[in-house]
Amino acid sequence: MMMKFAIALASSLFAGAVTAFAPAVFSRHRVTKTTQLYGRKPFISGNWKLNPQTKDEALTLAKEISASITEGSPDADIALFVPYVFIESAMGAVDGKLSVGAEGVCPEIKGAYTGAISTSMLKSIGVQWALAGHSERREIFAETDDYINAQCLRIIQEGMGVMLCIGEKLEEFEQDLAGSVCAVQLKKGLKGIAKDDLDKVVIAYEPVWAIGTGKVATPEIAQAVHSKCRKILAEMYDKEAANGVRILYGGSVTPDSVDDLMSQPDIDGALVGGASLDSQKFGRIINFKSAVPV
Ligand code: PGA
Repeated sequence: MMMKFAIALASSLFAGAVTAFAPAVFSRHRVTKTTQLYGRKPFISGNWKLNPQTKDEALTLAKEISASITEGSPDADIALFVPYVFIESAMGAVDGKLSVGAEGVCPEIKGAYTGAISTSMLKSIGVQWALAGHSERREIFAETDDYINAQCLRIIQEGMGVMLCIGEKLEEFEQDLAGSVCAVQLKKGLKGIAKDDLDKVVIAYEPVWAIGTGKVATPEIAQAVHSKCRKILAEMYDKEAANGVRILYGGSVTPDSVDDLMSQPDIDGALVGGASLDSQKFGRIINFKSAVPV
């Protein structure tokens, strides 16, 4: 009994501490995970990348996804990261039930940067979240840790939330370097970000070998790296701060894998690519079932 009371008390204390910054979303009340001990509300997010091909398809998809969020859904933050041109119409389609974020930002505020989109532009249309550091941006668009850090700093300066993506490549995983790669990407990505601003930061651990490959990391592998990431955050800040940061898993998450992943104590959500383009699949992921007892 005492234990349960202590957990409930700690839960309410931490919950108050970390929910200061929260996107406006449909309110649901079911507690689903013991990670709520640290006020870590689950966060399920989709990354549409260069999809879908038309505004009509985007509207239909956004509407169908928002319809899958019901009163019985887990009490989680839900966000869709969509191409810039679809942001405003997707926001209109989801009826406030989820956040619509940007897949990236330019760290510059204004000037001669053809093709770029600034945080102030995004904020002016109501965007609250943006991705940074996705492996496709690192690889295909040659974004460096310094550039990613500048994006994170700018997003936070604007009062928005950043989802910083990190993760190792296959050869690094095979050489047991996942923890070291994540340490470098976390330390460089979050350089200069104050502890007080960590409530605006979500980490997405996405092993590059699992992205779009159908090879999801086992829940045990993902849990081990998430736990390492939390230790690194504790070294960078402190244990309490690290316990408040949500760390999501990304890489071939599907309806079949989400429940086991969400049952791991350090996995606080998912960043979903391919399956977020299918409203039935993503709807099931949003309605995950965690085996972790409350
Ligand atoms: P995936 O993509 O789910 O298609 O593997 C994840 C991501 O890139 O965020």
